Amino acid sequence: MKKIFITGCCGYIGSHTCVELLDAGYEIVGLDNFSNSKPSVLERIKKITGKEIKFYEGDMLDKNLLEKIFNENEINMVMDFAAFKSVGDSVSKPIEYYIDNVSSVLTLLSVMKEHNIKSLIFSSSATVYGTPEFVPITEESKTGGTTNPYGTSKLFVEQILKDLYKSDNDWKICIFRYFNPIGAHQSGLIGEEPNGKPANLMPYISMVATKELEYLSVFGDDYDTKDGTGIRDYIHVVDLARAHIKGAEKLNKEKSGLFIYNLGTGEGYSVLDMIHAFENANHVSVPYKIEARRPGDIAECFADSSKAEKELNWKATLTLEDMCKDAYNFTKNRKEK
Ligand code: UFG
Repeated sequence: MKKIFITGCCGYIGSHTCVELLDAGYEIVGLDNFSNSKPSVLERIKKITGKEIKFYEGDMLDKNLLEKIFNENEINMVMDFAAFKSVGDSVSKPIEYYIDNVSSVLTLLSVMKEHNIKSLIFSSSATVYGTPEFVPITEESKTGGTTNPYGTSKLFVEQILKDLYKSDNDWKICIFRYFNPIGAHQSGLIGEEPNGKPANLMPYISMVATKELEYLSVFGDDYDTKDGTGIRDYIHVVDLARAHIKGAEKLNKEKSGLFIYNLGTGEGYSVLDMIHAFENANHVSVPYKIEARRPGDIAECFADSSKAEKELNWKATLTLEDMCKDAYNFTKNRKEK
C-alpha cells in the first residue's frame, strides 16, 4: 500500500492535514520531533478519525532516520510541514531558523532523490511576497523583499525546489503559499497550541476571551486601511488541510511539474473586524488597547486564490464565524484540561 510521508505531523497544520487525509482513506507515515507540538496529538488524531498513523519520533535533519523511514515504508509522496514559524524568533535566531527550515529540506530532498520518490507538497507562506505590490496577490506577483529570516527561509526553499525541478523534470512539486491559517478542528481536540504567550492574532484573542490574558494589544491603527488596522486573509485551518488532498490528487495525476498556489479566502479582514467577529460568534468580550505598530508588519495582505480553484477545484468554504467559534472552542477545551 502506498503511503504519504508527513513531516511535522503533530504540528498545527500537519495534524489537521493528517485528519483530512486519514478520513479520505490515505495511509500516513508521520515524523515529528515535538519541538513545537505534543505527543498527545497522535492520540487525538486517532480519536477523531479512528485511524492510526505509523509514527516516528525524530528530526528531519537526521538523515539516517529518514533513510530508515523510506526503507521501511512504501512512500509515494511527501508533505513537508516541519518548520519553525515564529517571525520574531527568526530575527534573533537566524542560524537555527536556516538550519531547521532550509538544511532539513535539503536532507529530505536528498533522501527522496536516493529513493526515487519525486513527489512533494511543500508548505510555503504568503510572507514570500514581502510587501505586496498590489492586492489581491496572485501567484505571479513579485516575491522577495522578505523582512525576516522565517520569510527568507521559505523563499530560499522555493528557489531550491525550482532549481531542483529545472535539473530533473521527473519531479512533481506543489508549493502552497498559506495566508493566515486560524481556527481549529471542530471536535476541539486539535488546534494551535503556542508555547507561552502567543505571537499571532487569533490565539491571542482566544486567550483574552478565556481571561488567560488581560487584553489584546492592537498593533497600530494608523495604516492606510479602512479602519487603520492591519488587514489579512484569514483561512480556516481545515480548509487549508483539505487543499492538500486536492494537491495530492493533482500530483498523482500529473507526470511532472512544479505548481504554485495561494491558499486564502480572498477576503481581507482588519484586526478590529476580527475582534468584533470573535465577540459576536462567541458572545464574549475581547478588551483591547491600541498600541504602536509592530516592526515588520505590512498594512494589507490578501490572496487571489482563483488559480487553486481553477486547477485544483479547491475553494475555502468555512466562514469567519466558523473560524472564530472553532478557535474559541479549542482554547476553552485546552484551558479546562
Ligand atoms: N496583531 C495585533 N496584535 C497581536 C497580534 C497580531 O494587532 O497581538 C495584528 C498584526 O499587527 C497583523 C494581524 O494582527 O496586522 C495579523 O498578525 P499575525 O501575527 O496573526 O499574522 P501575520 O500576518 O503577521 O503573520 C502570519 C504568520 C506568518 C506568515 C504570515 C503570512 O504568523 O508565519 O502570516 O502572511 F508568514
